[in-house]
Amino acid sequence: MNNCLNVRMIEFKLMGDERGSLVVCEGGTDIPFIAKRIFYIFGSDQSVVRGNHANRRSEFVLINVAGRSKVRIKDGRGNEMVFALNRPHTGIYIPSMVWKEMYDFSSDSVLLCLASEHYDADEYIRNYDEYVREQK
Ligand code: TYD
Repeated sequence: MNNCLNVRMIEFKLMGDERGSLVVCEGGTDIPFIAKRIFYIFGSDQSVVRGNHANRRSEFVLINVAGRSKVRIKDGRGNEMVFALNRPHTGIYIPSMVWKEMYDFSSDSVLLCLASEHYDADEYIRNYDEYVREQK
């Protein structure tokens, strides 16, 4: 995988005591941007593939706050990597211009997504050939 994509796993501090666990994701420190948008995905089963897009501007952190899923990353140059999300205090950081596919959702999966930008359909590249062209 071309390292310039800079996709990486982030381990958040787990603040646990006898009452349970608490995880903090502070913008600019725990994650490398200030989140302007938060959404979450649940009710997707094992056969579903979501994402299938790259974003020209948005950066993301994805955290399975419950259950499990996988994220396949492609760089448009023939390289791909798969990341497993299966712990509520571990996320994946995905910079802009990275192709992503989320799949293999467990039935209890709740995938929390933090985004650096407000939603703008025009900054989504949903066609892989177009993504490859723009990567060049
Ligand atoms: P979509 O991008 O297909 O979801 P995923 O990345 O999980 O495959 O989004 C599904 C629908 O929700 C689509 O009609 C666009 C809309 N949507 C918003 O309006 N705002 C958002 O922030 C997101 C992520 C999606």
